[in-house]
Amino acid sequence: MSSFRTLDELPAEQRVLVRLDLNSPVEDGVVQDNRRFSRHAETIAELAEAGHRVALMAHQGRPGRDTFVSLEQHADILAEHAGVDVDFVAGTFGDDAVAAVRDLDAGDVLLLENTRMTDDELPEKDPEEHAASDFVETLAPEFDAYVNDAYSAAHRKHASLVGFPLKLPSYAGRVMETEYEANTAIAEREFDGDVTMVVGGTKATDVIGVMEALDEKVDRFLLGGVAGELFLRAADYPVGEDVDTELFDEQWDANEETIRSVLEERSEQVALASDLAYEDADGERAEVAVDDVVEKTQSFLDIGSDTVADYEPIVRDSEAVFVKGALGVFEDERFSVGTVGVLEAIAETDCFSVVGGGDTSRAITMYGMDEDDFSHVSIAGGAYIRALTGEPLPAVELLIQSAETDA
Ligand code: 3PG
Ligand code: MG
Repeated sequence: MSSFRTLDELPAEQRVLVRLDLNSPVEDGVVQDNRRFSRHAETIAELAEAGHRVALMAHQGRPGRDTFVSLEQHADILAEHAGVDVDFVAGTFGDDAVAAVRDLDAGDVLLLENTRMTDDELPEKDPEEHAASDFVETLAPEFDAYVNDAYSAAHRKHASLVGFPLKLPSYAGRVMETEYEANTAIAEREFDGDVTMVVGGTKATDVIGVMEALDEKVDRFLLGGVAGELFLRAADYPVGEDVDTELFDEQWDANEETIRSVLEERSEQVALASDLAYEDADGERAEVAVDDVVEKTQSFLDIGSDTVADYEPIVRDSEAVFVKGALGVFEDERFSVGTVGVLEAIAETDCFSVVGGGDTSRAITMYGMDEDDFSHVSIAGGAYIRALTGEPLPAVELLIQSAETDA
């Protein structure tokens, strides 16, 4: 199998340009610390300790959104995790940025400003076109090597992700390496026993696409969240409709045909909830068997306890479990039973396990589970979905191509 080069192959004393994914939640202008910082910190510490001159690039938000902010705060958060100083320069490839890059000594780390503040970054373009942009043409000559650690942004064809590999010897950072291996496992690895996929969350359209693409690879799908209710709706239960939400009807229209065909052709592959949880008149968690739902009058916020009990043994008997999406609104402790129950069952077994999607993996920290009990907790969302279905990631392809061209 063709592959990319890793930091193990990076020559000594390089001037390295490193692409990270530090895209983070921002609340009232304050950047929220999250796994992306702690993960990338390891790559940075390794490069700094090895004595390379390190310039970092990353994006934050998109123009027009309130998450579109400077990376100044990111530098401090990153420094704290990495245990090395991270300087910040308020430019991406202007004169100040280039001067700061030229000023780097061995072991220094510098973070350049939000790549999406340049006009060259965002348009989805072919690598050749990006490689000819001012952004890439200006920065590339200042470096000996390019390291891409931004697996979670690798589905984007942006300048900082696909332009530089055409100009510089390119390497995968540690996060890129780990994420790539774990997230492609479902598409590339052969497992001896059953492969189970936990499918939930609110983006039903995404996960239903994954289910369709993975029918040969996955033995059992355990459903919850919005997709779970839509499947129940297809099985003629009066659930999966919008009462006080706007999550169901539109995604039903978009996926009805696929859902019906999955249920018709492979119903034994799909495990649906036998009970659901909702908030009763006293604000307490209450549960109802799906057979007893006569009419949908309130929102369901979690799978029920019987369903968790049905799902646990399936998890325990699996050789591999991949999680995409939460089974309920776990942020509210009353409705965390499904998500936490299934994650704990995964943690307790020694199956190969990957938990993907920024949101779901937050439940692990929130409810005091140990990340080490999972084979991999991914920091990727869109890239994780694409990896599961075996869709190539442009920025990863470029790393592989760079390794082949230089070989
Ligand atoms: C992410 O946060 O999922 C990646 O960084 C990609 O960001 P984008 O969806 O704004 O392109
Ligand atoms: Mg485990």
